[in-house]
Amino acid sequence: MVEGAKRGADERSSGSTLILGIETSCDETAAAVVADGRHILSNVVASQEAIHAKYGGVFPEVASRQHVLTIVPVVREAMEQAGVGWDDLTAVAVTYGPGLAGSLLVGLNMAKAVALAHNLPLLGINHLEGHLYANWLIVEEREENPEPRFPLVCLIVSGGHTDLVVMTDHGQYQVLGRTLDDAAGEAFDKVGRLLGLPYPGGPAIQEAAKGGSPTAFKLPRAWLKGTYDFSFSGLKTAVLRIVQKYRGSASSRKGTLAATMPTVIRPLPVANLAASFQEAIVDVLVEKTRWAAEEHQVTEVLLAGGVASNLRLRQRMKERLSHPIRCPPPYLCTDNAAMIAAAGTYAWRTGRRGGWDLDVAPSAGLTSLEPP
Ligand code: KG4
Ligand code: ZN
Repeated sequence: MVEGAKRGADERSSGSTLILGIETSCDETAAAVVADGRHILSNVVASQEAIHAKYGGVFPEVASRQHVLTIVPVVREAMEQAGVGWDDLTAVAVTYGPGLAGSLLVGLNMAKAVALAHNLPLLGINHLEGHLYANWLIVEEREENPEPRFPLVCLIVSGGHTDLVVMTDHGQYQVLGRTLDDAAGEAFDKVGRLLGLPYPGGPAIQEAAKGGSPTAFKLPRAWLKGTYDFSFSGLKTAVLRIVQKYRGSASSRKGTLAATMPTVIRPLPVANLAASFQEAIVDVLVEKTRWAAEEHQVTEVLLAGGVASNLRLRQRMKERLSHPIRCPPPYLCTDNAAMIAAAGTYAWRTGRRGGWDLDVAPSAGLTSLEPP
């Protein structure tokens, strides 16, 4: 019996809450089974990263068609690895938004099909809420895994979102601030492309930055004083201007004497630019999180979303904040379905249910749940 299957059999006999999670909001087709909101029995992710890399970003129609091809095998695999039967499940939790409409529809319809066929309740989960609940999952990498304690501040940083949230209880969120333009991960991806690095830009910039100096280039930080909002488009433009200078782009030389001379292309200092950009983005994320944690007198600070796997961000958070910092291991920071199943468990316990009319909401924000 594989580990998951043995655990699955034990969980069944102890009558735990077993949730099947399904996630297809962007470019990962994912399904997972989680017991009691904390124990991962299976966590299957079919990534489309290699397919989208040649476009330098996610191509929405390609993403939804790929989900159509992989969703059934991925859900089957998650059930098999967990060693549970359909009738053992308590409910099916699925991401309804935010995300790409065509991608979300595939997961939502799969979840409805499973729920209908096996007479199971359906739970609609906000993708951001899922990222946050990745912090409730028990992981082997940590010696101790106590439940996060409220009140807490959570920084959700992904390819589509940058939200600073205070959480006072399960399902109770106060969004303090969010990005006014690009999301942190989006900025990493766009700057990665400017520097000629592969997609996704985040891990590539982190790697390139290892060989560079974070103070090599003086890049702007948008503090937006008096708010918890973020803005990264000025930073991205500042990197673009530097790149243009090195590449000798026509627009940067327009109207100057240089425009009349042959283009001189100097090698781009990729490592220094990557390190300086990473430092600028991390600085703002860390300081705003610190202010929020102090003002709201929270017990601990959670990091969530793909960018939360950034090592410099984790290191600087620990250096600058006196609060305990918790972040999921990298494979639970990026999109997965175990986080959706974890969020689903707490949604189930607080009495939340979805109806057959549950629709996708591509631009859904994080809102507090009504008390049951
Ligand atoms: O949460 P996620 O998997 O998908 C969304 O919901 O968007 O996040 C993906 C984002 C991408 O923008 C990727 O570049 C970024 O997370 N990312 C990172 C790192 N790993 C992934 N950004 C910075 N440093 C990393 N190590
Ligand atoms: Zn995500």
